[in-house]
Amino acid sequence: MEKIVIKNVRILDPANYVDEVGDIYIKDGRFSAPEPEDENTVMIDGTGLTAAPGLIDLHVHLRDPGQTEKEDIISGCRAAAAGGVTQLLAMPNTKPAVDSPETVRYIAEKAKNADAGVHIVGAITKGLGGHEPTDIKALYEAGISALSDDGVPVLDTSIMVSAMKTAADIDIPVTAHCEDPYLAGGKVNEGMISELLGVKGMPGAAEDAGTAREIALAESYGLPIHICHVSTAVSAAMIRAAKCRGVRVTAETAPHYLMLTEQELLRGDADYRMNPPLRTETDRLAMIEALRDGTIDAIATDHAPHTPKEKSDFVNAPNGSIGMETSFAASYTVLVEEGILSEADLIRKMSVNPANILRTYGGTLNVGAPADLMLYKKEKWTVDPEKLHGKSKNTPFKGLELSAKVKLTIFRGRIVFRDE
Ligand code: DOR
Ligand code: ZN
Repeated sequence: MEKIVIKNVRILDPANYVDEVGDIYIKDGRFSAPEPEDENTVMIDGTGLTAAPGLIDLHVHLRDPGQTEKEDIISGCRAAAAGGVTQLLAMPNTKPAVDSPETVRYIAEKAKNADAGVHIVGAITKGLGGHEPTDIKALYEAGISALSDDGVPVLDTSIMVSAMKTAADIDIPVTAHCEDPYLAGGKVNEGMISELLGVKGMPGAAEDAGTAREIALAESYGLPIHICHVSTAVSAAMIRAAKCRGVRVTAETAPHYLMLTEQELLRGDADYRMNPPLRTETDRLAMIEALRDGTIDAIATDHAPHTPKEKSDFVNAPNGSIGMETSFAASYTVLVEEGILSEADLIRKMSVNPANILRTYGGTLNVGAPADLMLYKKEKWTVDPEKLHGKSKNTPFKGLELSAKVKLTIFRGRIVFRDE
């Protein structure tokens, strides 16, 4: 395997409290001590660039098996690489769902050739139907790294409790899509905008009731839970209070909830429709404050590709938007440029904390660790959906000017993305 040297780069490694200019050496897929250069050494001039640990995205829909017209494992990981993401958590709402060891093995096998590390989420109920538990031990032996019914909540609360207990035994996280099924099913946030558009709304209460249930379970049973895609001020407040009481709860939000609000829906463009939906300005500011004060641990994308054809129908289009290629840039723009988080804190939210939640390697540039790294630069660019690397184009960041750009990504010692 080739040797790589990145010269004269700003090394930002918050897990080790490092922020200094120096050289980074990579050999045999790992960060190494300084090595003599030879004819096989790839030299990268890092002048003006920042090197940070590869990002870890806790919430990605790869659509493979079953919906590979939207995305597949290879194309999804190419999009990941273009966003500086070197490990991701792949959600189980594929077709079939990830509810059998065969499907786990299929994904693991195909992911061997991908440009990012794929951690597989096993379903908690068969077909994500909410009523029949999967064989978690069998899924774990086949290679899952987490449990969720993401896309929908686990309908049967007793199955959720039992999954949380098993997950704690084998030390993998349970990630929860929080939603009350009886309040769910609308098209946009319930309120002024849903009324103006004349479509059924998704109330914040649907998410908040789900968040409350998962916190109650975690607190009553003393078990850990990870809350997915937090979008409301009320859910953030509940998570904050739960953390203060010592509940073992962690949480993520997504860049679109930091940068956009329900106002965007007045465009009548389904690329701005996702679940949970874009909310109010009050909610957006609450997400930013919750990241700042540590209530929300991580930024994950909920990368949810859908074809242009599906997204052409504003009301009937499926929920979801892509996000891996813009997540760092958008988060940098709204958090670092605005003085809310330092760059080190942003890397904590996008790499260090996700590594801890997932109990995986990464989140550091430690000598000896697998060489997963991204180089970025403070630079203005405008998001053009046609220039993105995944199969689908449904980004709500289209046309927006962002303030940082991923320039190069290295995954286990291999250059997987270079911004040309
Ligand atoms: O917007 C969403 N899209 N939310 C989900 O929970 C599922 C996801 C998808 O799979 O498309
Ligand atoms: Zn979800």
